[in-house]
Amino acid sequence: MTRRRKMVFLLGFMGSGKSTVGELLARELGWPFIDLDTTIEAGQGTSIREIFERRGELFFREIERAALTEVSKSAPAVIALGGGTWAQRENLEFIRSTGAATVWLDCGIDELRRRCAGIENRPLFRDPEVFTQLYLQRLPYYRLAEHRVVTDGYGADEVVQKILRLNIF
Ligand code: S3P
Repeated sequence: MTRRRKMVFLLGFMGSGKSTVGELLARELGWPFIDLDTTIEAGQGTSIREIFERRGELFFREIERAALTEVSKSAPAVIALGGGTWAQRENLEFIRSTGAATVWLDCGIDELRRRCAGIENRPLFRDPEVFTQLYLQRLPYYRLAEHRVVTDGYGADEVVQKILRLNIF
């Protein structure tokens, strides 16, 4: 029997559409939408960029982990993770242990680069080399998601429809 899940995590590289798609998906389902980065920013009273600049990535990963634990208590919900959240082994295991559904928004690197160009508030998008390396490092993790939805060439509404057709809800 298929389990009907009341929580879904959207994961994928920065620029893959997690927040945009998440918000639309939540509206379709009539569930709350939670953006992990926004939750962190609200909790810290500052931007992710500032957190990286002032406290460094290690500190960010600590508060990200704490925020993840907190938001996971709020079923039903659609939760958009940050690009690196799922790529931390501890987080991946924790998310799996919640029994929530996980969906990777799979977008090719050229499209991601186009979407992230000019976006100032992404501390890990500094130069194209780092961007590519990070993407390649993360792919093996993203592939561990339960579901994969290709987003290249699709609008956010179409991606939402694809997710709704997965055997989750
Ligand atoms: C990060 C991605 C960002 C944000 C932080 C770190 C990453 O989220 O969590 O800048 O490690 O890839 P988005 O994927 O929403 O940009």
